[in-house]
Amino acid sequence: MTTMNIAAPRAEDIAVATMADRARLRIVDETATDVTAREALLDAAFGASRFAKSSERMREGRAPARGLALSAHLDGALVGTIRLWHIQSESGHAALLLGPVAVAASKQSLGIGGALIREALQRARARGHKAVILVGDEPYYRRFGFERRHTLALDMPGPVDPERFLGLELVAGALEGATGLLRPTGPRAARSPQLRAAKAVRAA
Ligand SMILES: CC(C)(COP(=O)(O)OP(=O)(O)OC[C@H]1O[C@@H](n2cnc3c(N)ncnc32)[C@H](O)[C@@H]1OP(=O)(O)O)[C@@H](O)C(=O)NCCC(=O)NCCS
Repeated sequence: MTTMNIAAPRAEDIAVATMADRARLRIVDETATDVTAREALLDAAFGASRFAKSSERMREGRAPARGLALSAHLDGALVGTIRLWHIQSESGHAALLLGPVAVAASKQSLGIGGALIREALQRARARGHKAVILVGDEPYYRRFGFERRHTLALDMPGPVDPERFLGLELVAGALEGATGLLRPTGPRAARSPQLRAAKAVRAA
């Protein structure tokens, strides 16, 4: 048996690999064939506790907003996911809830998460949506313009850490005067055999 000496990668090689990965990245509308890999990716990223999140109360049983469920594919494999959902505040302000967003552990810090978020925000703006809300780490989301000040008078259907409750106005002033409990307003989800199969695997 031959043994090969594999040298540790040099910094410049890593940079080249990163650029090559980015060039092969495709951000596309999610399809039914992505569902199994998406669920596995989300399970790996968040574990079972993802279903206990307050944000999940706004997603369960709902379909994501049209054109705002995206997949990142690298060489045909799903390496990232993002979805946005219709919500509305008690004060009648319509917005989108962003999340979950996740990137495969082996492909993080290549810019895929940022590319997914920017593409989703651009598409949301193009579709006439005015504001986006999420629960996430402010040190990460501030680079996309998310700020705490937009959610100070808003509430989630369940516990939420105020430090992680963030908003972004796609149209200036869209969240001015937004108060009260957020609730889901999206269409009911159609039955998905792929999602049912993923749930069965998780339960086994
Ligand atoms: C958060 C996540 C989607 C980012 O995807 P990604 O492809 O790694 O992101 P990008 O490559 O665009 O950006 C990476 C940068 O963000 C930083 N970053 C990642 N997560 C961060 C966090 N929670 N807080 C602060 N910075 C963070 C990285 O350190 C890196 O910084 P650098 O560019 O200075 O090296 C990804 O790390 C992930 O899937 N995490 C697990 C699931 C998760 O936490 N999702 C978000 C919950 S709302």
